[in-house]
Amino acid sequence: MSISYEEMKRKLEKYNQMQIMSNYEKLDDKTKTELAEQIERIDFEQINDLYKTAKEEVSFENDVIEPISYIEKDKLNNEELEKYLKLGESAIKEGKYSVVTMAGGQGTRLGHSGPKGTFDIGLDSHKSIFEILVDTIKEASEKYNVLIPWYIMTSKENNEQTKEFFEKNNYFNYNKDYIKFFEQGKLPMCDEQGKILVNEKGIIKEASDGHGGIFQSMKRNSITEDMKQRGVEWAFIGPVDNVLVKMVDPILLGAVIDKKVLAGGKSVVKANPSEKVGVFCKRNGKPGVVEYTEISKEMSEQVNEEGELVFGESHINCNLFNVQAIEEVANKNLPYHVAHKKASYLDENGNLVVPDKPNAYKFESFIFDAFDMLNDMTILRVKREEEFAPVKNAEGTDSPETARELYKKFYNMQ
Ligand code: UTP
Repeated sequence: MSISYEEMKRKLEKYNQMQIMSNYEKLDDKTKTELAEQIERIDFEQINDLYKTAKEEVSFENDVIEPISYIEKDKLNNEELEKYLKLGESAIKEGKYSVVTMAGGQGTRLGHSGPKGTFDIGLDSHKSIFEILVDTIKEASEKYNVLIPWYIMTSKENNEQTKEFFEKNNYFNYNKDYIKFFEQGKLPMCDEQGKILVNEKGIIKEASDGHGGIFQSMKRNSITEDMKQRGVEWAFIGPVDNVLVKMVDPILLGAVIDKKVLAGGKSVVKANPSEKVGVFCKRNGKPGVVEYTEISKEMSEQVNEEGELVFGESHINCNLFNVQAIEEVANKNLPYHVAHKKASYLDENGNLVVPDKPNAYKFESFIFDAFDMLNDMTILRVKREEEFAPVKNAEGTDSPETARELYKKFYNMQ
């Protein structure tokens, strides 16, 4: 049983969010229950606080941002390469390695109606992105003679469709006991006055809480527990939308084990100073990522004696975490970032409003903010053309067309 009408009213009045009840009488019983469950679950104080921070000017002036050291895969000598390979391969063979794919994004820029992983980038085989990804796990499983667990983070919106897609495709002939789905968290969206929006169904409009929500959602959904039961110690957490993502890389794993740190990440050299990517850095002495929106022009253009960008290690969302670190991060709260978005909603008279400019705030946490909670991490610089073919936009840069060309080139298909 969820909370009563009176309790809902009391809670909403306390937080000045009574507009949520404007269309209550028009809702059917099932929807009323859904709304009651939301009101019971949501931390309205948190949303009101997040709204206040959305209105504040964010300043990074007091942060000390410095370049971070990294290992360049291409420049490793034979001895180092062998050492990392041996360490990484042994851990994989011993079943200590797993892969997690973040597939909870909305993919608004791509504009595909289904989950991004179901998208066909136009290869002759018409493989979906999910199939392109599982191919690499299957190949590694064969090579190391071990089944590698694959965890897929979905969102409330795309969870069912994602699971159905895997079912329909017979889990791409991978062992289905080694594929698990879990849903990421969500948070209400509010308007520019801090009022929580109501969606077309008449209930609170919620949106995914960003890829940083992965830590708490792995804990909440017992994914870390499942990993431990299987003897898994490491999780590569990567994006769904990079068709060249190297999800099983013994060198990254070996380097992280060798350096005795709990996390690692991959970088590619930033294409030019104004490329819209976050770059690895040291922030107040801790590893982190400085977003392209935060970095000054001067810093982004700074070069060293070799002529390379000082802040040039782009974070490509390829992250490696020890399971223990995932649990530690899950016990803390990552900061939220605010995005100003277009969001349709029901007004107080029950009319659907479809805005033509941003009208709402969405709160998201980012996976790389977790690095800050760890004292050290290992960064492996890899080659862009070998590991980075993002599918973000419908056309132009980082589109299915560019990703397809990079994929074909890498696999010598042309
Ligand atoms: P993006 O930040 O590019 O977002 O996600 P997106 O939702 O896919 O696309 P746009 O911005 O709406 O066009 C980078 C990676 O993080 C995942 C995405 O699925 C993608 O793999 N992600 C993002 C989540 O899993 N959850 C989120 O809440 C956000």
